[in-house]
Amino acid sequence: MTPKTPSYLFPKSFTWGVATSSFQIEGATQEDGRGPSIWDTFCQQENTIVDHSNGDLACDHYHRWQEDLDLIKSLNVDAYRFSIAWPRVMPQGGGEIEQRGLDFYDRLVDGLLERNIDPWVTLYHWDLPQALQDRGGWVSRETVDHFIEYTRVVCERLGDRVAGWITHNEPWCASVLGHLNGDHAPGLKDHYAHLASSHHLLLSHGLAVPVIREIVGDKPIGITLNLVPSVPASPSEADAEANERFDGFFNRWYLDPLVGRGYPEDMLKRYREENYIDDWSFIHEGDLEAIAEPIDFLGINYYSRGIIRSDKVTETDNEPIEVIAIGEHTDMGWEVYPQGIYDLLTRVNADYPFTSIYITENGAAYATGPDEDGQIKDHRRESYLREHLIACHKARTAGVPLDGYFAWSLMDNFEWAFGYGKRFGLVYVDYETQKRTLKQSAQWYRELVTSRVIP
Ligand code: FCB
Repeated sequence: MTPKTPSYLFPKSFTWGVATSSFQIEGATQEDGRGPSIWDTFCQQENTIVDHSNGDLACDHYHRWQEDLDLIKSLNVDAYRFSIAWPRVMPQGGGEIEQRGLDFYDRLVDGLLERNIDPWVTLYHWDLPQALQDRGGWVSRETVDHFIEYTRVVCERLGDRVAGWITHNEPWCASVLGHLNGDHAPGLKDHYAHLASSHHLLLSHGLAVPVIREIVGDKPIGITLNLVPSVPASPSEADAEANERFDGFFNRWYLDPLVGRGYPEDMLKRYREENYIDDWSFIHEGDLEAIAEPIDFLGINYYSRGIIRSDKVTETDNEPIEVIAIGEHTDMGWEVYPQGIYDLLTRVNADYPFTSIYITENGAAYATGPDEDGQIKDHRRESYLREHLIACHKARTAGVPLDGYFAWSLMDNFEWAFGYGKRFGLVYVDYETQKRTLKQSAQWYRELVTSRVIP
């Protein structure tokens, strides 16, 4: 008898989607009254983006959105996760509302619904209005108030039709890459900015949740964190300690306050002992309660794991401990490690009381382009997705309340500091002509979401 191959079936209620973000695809940065964002400014600075590119054209999605919605439809997915560009809606960050910006998202949402695709909105995927940065950005508490104001405006306009709400995308990236490493906009390298921005991002999340809820009713509301399951490189005590610290820095600093545990004690102790910052007055009474406002789901973005060694720390601070990848890598230099998504999901489920989890991003950068026949045979992406989804299926079987999966990304796009060289799309974008072509992985994904069984 031939052994039966396991069948990885997902229930009908499981949400399948694809994801993008505004700055990475829209282009049209100066159209219809959009104000500049911190990413426009950052791209203009020297040595920020490896290929010296910017978001001015990107995938020209602002003009090609109908064609893009048809593409999404052709994948047969249930849902589309996209983000709203705050500076389109409020060019100054607060105050004046730009109706033409809102109109764009209004048409997008209707276009999705006409095609029977659920719109999932991320309110903040890093494109802060520059006008707010000029007043301190996320380091300043004032930005929290403006975020709430902006949230209200968006919810009032789209709240009757959007299926799911995500306040923030990856506050770790916004605070650490943006304010500590300087790799992302606004390009700061400052301890105080790192911790104050992380706090204000989380606080703005917690304060936004009841505002969204009041306007949109019982639609699911959550936040998306990028989490990295990590292991010590050796059994040594030093590596174990470094691993604990990495976990605190990367994962627990964001997870713990969301569920009412405040900031991790071990991290606070370290920061205090090292005089990391001397002014903690940005944390006001009541803030931690606000951050812990209950949410309906946790969004997780997973790309790879971390292997932690105590002697691998950054030069400037001994804070962020470097991740050493081994084995097979994607074009980002990230290790392909499907077991990590299982380890992460089961760990989050064991340690935290979230009742629903979505993978809001998972995917791989591979440059594979069209062959002589115009086919894009991106087998490695297909296998990356397949292996990660098998691990997701196993996590569900192990009791993790995983309710959906969004592949990153619908199409190749502006990969932040890496520019256009890193291609994460299921759809290939020829940036010369803006022609979109479904890659083989897209055909595979369509088969998966149609049958609900991993092919
Ligand atoms: C995540 C971002 C997303 C994309 C992927 C590759 O950190 O949320 O915009 O760049 O990485």
